[in-house]
Amino acid sequence: MTRAKIIGLGAYAPERILSNHDLEKMVDTTDEWIFSRTGIRERRIAATGEDTSDMCVNAAAMAFESSGLAASDIDLIIAATVTPDYRLPSTSCMIQKKIKAVNSATMDVVAACAGFIHGLSIAQAYIATGVYRNIMIFGAEKLSSITDYEDRNTCVLFGDGAGAAILTAADDDSGILSTYLKSDGNLDRLLHIPGGGTNKPYGANGNYDRKETLLRMSGNEVFKYAVRHMGDASMRVIKDAGLSPDDIDLLVPHQANIRIIKATADRLGMPQEKVFMNIEKFGNTSAASVPLALHDAVQQGRIKKGDLVLSVAFGGGLTWGAAVIRW
Ligand code: UT7
Repeated sequence: MTRAKIIGLGAYAPERILSNHDLEKMVDTTDEWIFSRTGIRERRIAATGEDTSDMCVNAAAMAFESSGLAASDIDLIIAATVTPDYRLPSTSCMIQKKIKAVNSATMDVVAACAGFIHGLSIAQAYIATGVYRNIMIFGAEKLSSITDYEDRNTCVLFGDGAGAAILTAADDDSGILSTYLKSDGNLDRLLHIPGGGTNKPYGANGNYDRKETLLRMSGNEVFKYAVRHMGDASMRVIKDAGLSPDDIDLLVPHQANIRIIKATADRLGMPQEKVFMNIEKFGNTSAASVPLALHDAVQQGRIKKGDLVLSVAFGGGLTWGAAVIRW
């Protein structure tokens, strides 16, 4: 079967930095609490009027440059986001318009922090079956637009950003070796936005409470599921690729919490030097987190040609997934 390989990566983080010290002035928290509990020092915040698709356009420019492909070469755009520009049209359509990918189909994926991994799995399936050849995946979020900056349980965690990857049919032994996706909709209340959808439309029956349109999370509960499922999903894709954890050169996980990442690595018996983290400077950027981390890892020389990379993510839904890639 034809494998899909990543031939270009791009990343974009907005200019404005929101540090832990800035947050100390907004809610009852401390830099010490945030850093020791999460590993985060600062996060980026998009400008007013800077939409999710705008951040994607910046990431796309970099991905095109590193891949050697042009926008007109792209057959399919997948945008993973829970913070779309509009409810209609899709963010992938807005990206298509802005980057002028005139020959592409588009689709959005709503799988929260696991969205980019879902994109990898979809791209792999389409490329393997020959439906599409060149696929562009975006993981992008303007989480500042759905964050309650009066809630210290959540506002210290999230940031904005966008990552892009271009995949094509592999002509060598590199590419995606295995993927795994799973969800548990029964746990929907653990991480959700109560209002603004058909269930509780904003503005209907006098419901103008903006807080209802902001993200809520039972952090402690989510933490436990994250550790369990990220470990299990990782083991599964490693096995499906015919490998053992020792074979993996670098773990590039969703950057939700340094303690979740360390627990996942421990379950795999992977030493810290084989784990990539950039959570300190971006916080949790949901669907953008994995491509931002992959991009940084490549830029820093932590991923080289031929390396075996494990990526794993977990988020609202609940949703989770993992992939093993030979670079
Ligand atoms: O992206 C994918 C999905 N998201 C995640 O994977 C996130 C998963 N969850 C987490 O990362 C962690 O649960 C958090 C970082 C959100 C919270 O860490 P925790 O160690 O689970 O803390 P906790 O919720 O058990 O709270 C411990 C204490 C509480 O005080 P009391 O009740 O013990 O007096 C909280 O009120 O820490 C308090 N607390 C804070 N204190 C200072 C909660 N947030 C803050 C804060 N600053 N920002």
